[in-house]
Amino acid sequence: MDGVTVIDHPLVQHKLTIMRKKETSTASFRRLLREISTLLCYAVTRHLDLTTIRIETPMEAMDAPVLEGKKLVFASILRAGNGLLEGMLDLVPAARVAHIGLYRDHETLQPVEYYFKAPDDLADRLVIVVDPMLATANSAIAAMDKLKERGARNIRFLCLLAAPEGVARFCAAHPDIPVFTAAIDSHLNDKGYIVPGLGDAGDRMYGTK
Ligand code: PRP
Ligand code: URA
Repeated sequence: MDGVTVIDHPLVQHKLTIMRKKETSTASFRRLLREISTLLCYAVTRHLDLTTIRIETPMEAMDAPVLEGKKLVFASILRAGNGLLEGMLDLVPAARVAHIGLYRDHETLQPVEYYFKAPDDLADRLVIVVDPMLATANSAIAAMDKLKERGARNIRFLCLLAAPEGVARFCAAHPDIPVFTAAIDSHLNDKGYIVPGLGDAGDRMYGTK
């Protein structure tokens, strides 16, 4: 699919398999999500533009590469997005952070918004939105609508697991936003869960039901 990158790094795939297992504990699930997010962060930032600055090493002066432009924004779709956010911030500690509070109504599968806080100069920054799960895509589409309404123009979406239905809906709604995921699973079940998936990411991270 155009605009969709599957991050097939062996370490990502190995860790994802352990996360999927139903017997994996909350503590292990959280630790693996944090570890995997650093690898996903590497992939989603792989082609960022560089510029050079003049520096002096102990040996001589040189033009050395640094990231171009303003600091990145990582936008976490709460709650489960925070599991990816932590590892991303380990790699890019200077990034700005946006929080988008959304939960899926279990009956309608429509997102309910309860919080939004973001830097006010989104138009000038690359915004990388993180949420482990792209199921119906209702939450991700609503998050992107909101960010665009607030001025964001350069956005990428990073998730861990996607359903083919969600990828198709997301790409139709936001064809300008590239999607990065570690896997695209078989399908959604009649309750809107990804199959085989890993269950409810937020519940598995925080030990709730
Ligand atoms: C999960 C997940 C996504 C959403 C995906 O969050 O983290 O945000 O569902 O489903 P969708 O693509 O069908 O919208 P949930 O609503 O369970 O909230 P939580 O992170 O607070 O548990
Ligand atoms: N949200 C989850 O956490 N898991 C799914 O499979 C679908 C939505």
